Amino acid sequence: MRHNSSNSVLSGWTHRHVLDLAAFSLEDYFLVLELAQRFRALPVAGARKLPALQGRLVATLFFEPSTRTRSSFELAAKRLSADVQSFSPASSSLSKGESLLDTARTYVAMGADLLVVRHRCAGVPASLAQGLDGSGERVAVLNGGDGLHSHPSQGLLDLFTLARHFAPSAPTPAALAGRRIVIVGDVLHSRVARSNLWALTACGADVVLCGPTTLLPEAFADFVAAPPPGQDRDPVAARGPITISRDLDQALAGADAVMTLRLQKERMHQHLLTSLEAYHRSYGLTHARLKACGDGVPVLHPGPVNRGVELAGALLDDPDRCLVEEQVRNGIPIRMALLYLLAAVGPGA
Ligand code: NCD
Repeated sequence: MRHNSSNSVLSGWTHRHVLDLAAFSLEDYFLVLELAQRFRALPVAGARKLPALQGRLVATLFFEPSTRTRSSFELAAKRLSADVQSFSPASSSLSKGESLLDTARTYVAMGADLLVVRHRCAGVPASLAQGLDGSGERVAVLNGGDGLHSHPSQGLLDLFTLARHFAPSAPTPAALAGRRIVIVGDVLHSRVARSNLWALTACGADVVLCGPTTLLPEAFADFVAAPPPGQDRDPVAARGPITISRDLDQALAGADAVMTLRLQKERMHQHLLTSLEAYHRSYGLTHARLKACGDGVPVLHPGPVNRGVELAGALLDDPDRCLVEEQVRNGIPIRMALLYLLAAVGPGA
């Protein structure tokens, strides 16, 4: 990729790892979306690969199942000409007692420049990054989803999808300013919602969270009020507001976009719902329900979808309303942008 005109912009990139969008400045969002838009413009079918990461090794270490994220990172890495090595916990030495850090070091010893890490426990990608930095390794860690904590690449691809929807010819974070974005569902168990909260409020969106108290504690209204532990300041000067609504019809009135979340049954340790039918009646999206907002208001979902629970099947299958496939498509250029920034540009380039 030729990026002569944006060398000065790329020099604003300060991150050695991408672990949590709480650390992103507005400039970071502009940079990632600008790069993603350029990568998105390249032809997909029969596309020649870009040489940017030739000779680099990207290892995907997914200690938790994934359909989209892992394939998307691997395709993104291949489109940038990187070598890709993926790790399968079931057939690995983890079952022989090897620590996560030693597993990561093994990939670094084989030449990995970048590790994409997913784990069911919050904080694993950050502690691997810290451990590897501490032993002087020059490897970048990209969080592919950790517990309930963070899923930065999903937050960024959702932001990109919304920006492209609102401003197709200039999909920048500015397209989100003042937009009312409703996030409905299992916010409590969602790392996607948490990453979206950092991203959307940074861009000045007006975020409405909607769900039952069991899946959406009141404290989420203050989610971005202070940076997370271990981060001394918020790099964003002024964030958009977060409000909480228990009533989906009220939340939808005046919405510019609606994002719904999967019920994370595997992370629910108590019975937080009376029944899936009752949940669908109160918080499920259908064409009829969306009459509360305008015709052009899009629906997003990070996938995988519980068809008929968060979203009616007919809505999921309606490409005029539902951007799920568009989100999947946008995931590749967003991940290309992140891999490019971490492996080819580096902090303070
Ligand atoms: C999400 C995840 O794994 O956090 N899926 C994804 O990455 N597209 C959301 C989910 O599992 O519900």
